[in-house]
Amino acid sequence: MKVQGTDMILPLLVLVIIGTVWGLDNGLARTPPMGWMSWQRFRCITDCENEPKNCISEQLYKDMADRLVSDGYAAVGYEYVNIDDCWMAKERDANDRLQADPKRFPNGIKALADYVHGKGLKLGIYEDFGTHTCGGYPGSKFYMQLDAETFASWGIDSLKLDGCYTETADIPIGYPIMEQFLNLTGRPILYSCSWPAYLQKPTYQAIAKSCNIWRNYGDIQDSWGSVESIINFYGKDSGNFSSVAGPGNFNDPDMLIIGNFGLSYNQQRVQMAMWSIMAAPLLMSNDLRNIRKESKDLLQNKGAISINQDPLGIQGRLIHTAGKIQVWNKPITPQGNFAFAILNFGDGGPGSLISVKGATLGLVDDRGYNITDAFTGEYRAAVKPNSYFNLTVVPSGVFLGKAYLLK
Ligand code: GLA
Repeated sequence: MKVQGTDMILPLLVLVIIGTVWGLDNGLARTPPMGWMSWQRFRCITDCENEPKNCISEQLYKDMADRLVSDGYAAVGYEYVNIDDCWMAKERDANDRLQADPKRFPNGIKALADYVHGKGLKLGIYEDFGTHTCGGYPGSKFYMQLDAETFASWGIDSLKLDGCYTETADIPIGYPIMEQFLNLTGRPILYSCSWPAYLQKPTYQAIAKSCNIWRNYGDIQDSWGSVESIINFYGKDSGNFSSVAGPGNFNDPDMLIIGNFGLSYNQQRVQMAMWSIMAAPLLMSNDLRNIRKESKDLLQNKGAISINQDPLGIQGRLIHTAGKIQVWNKPITPQGNFAFAILNFGDGGPGSLISVKGATLGLVDDRGYNITDAFTGEYRAAVKPNSYFNLTVVPSGVFLGKAYLLK
């Protein structure tokens, strides 16, 4: 079936009827998905002659799949290997099917999926809802059902559907249509939408009905300024988008850039802590073949990951601001416990001496709490709603805590 902008309404009606029965019920992303994605680090490099290690090719994804397993990432939960833009040939094949660039993917995507599955991992792919991908490759407009079927036949486990080269008015109509076509394939395919990222005032309830995860802010870049602006956007939480997060549905503040060039070690700790508090997908975009041990250890930190992967799936919120200091809180299991972050966006001096009441951290039960440092597991203090927790947080630094309710 070809779906065109002008005659989208009829297929939509049919699909809405199917949708009332099906909904987005693919059983996926019960906790935020974890894995690796090529875009931020490897962009749209297609020149394999001059950049053999960095170009978008089957070798790149195989190398990353190998590293996920051999270097301990898979063991702590990273499982998706996500192809991003620029994997395709510039034209569809004679039957209108998408095809991978034959030079860079000589064995095709199905063989790559088999390889990745053979390692116990999952393969994700990238397409675009419009006529072209953001990088100028063939888009899904007019071919959505065929593309969903092609991805399923290749054994794809996750689809990031971007929103370049389309009318924004078509976006709220078109993304649910792709959801239905994915459902119709019968293969569980995690659905990652860029729907809200292209709209001024997205309707998050509708998005959460159709998508497992969704980008709602600009692209992350390899810089502290970029990380800071994303955290501040999530802190503002306009339209209360945090409230729709939960098992099966998560806001996506974009990739982890830990292990690249732009962040100091402390800033990398902030990204890991805050992506955990925000219940964000943990999709690394770095070069796992060439990464410092300190970055690798952060990415594999079990305390942070357990906050991110908490089964309640609640997105943490900014609950208090004092100058450049922010306090974030995220309820976690067992009932009554919390994770929290005290973040210092200051940019000078030896660190801020902070004295904060338990209640200001969101710790309001009179029985009190034991606080540990989530990164190290170290015990730090016992705190009641009206007693103070004292600590120093360095500039562009964070304290990531866990608070255990005393019984
Ligand atoms: C958009 C997306 C990015 C990436 C590029 C690819 O900018 O937001 O994450 O997928 O397109 O061209």
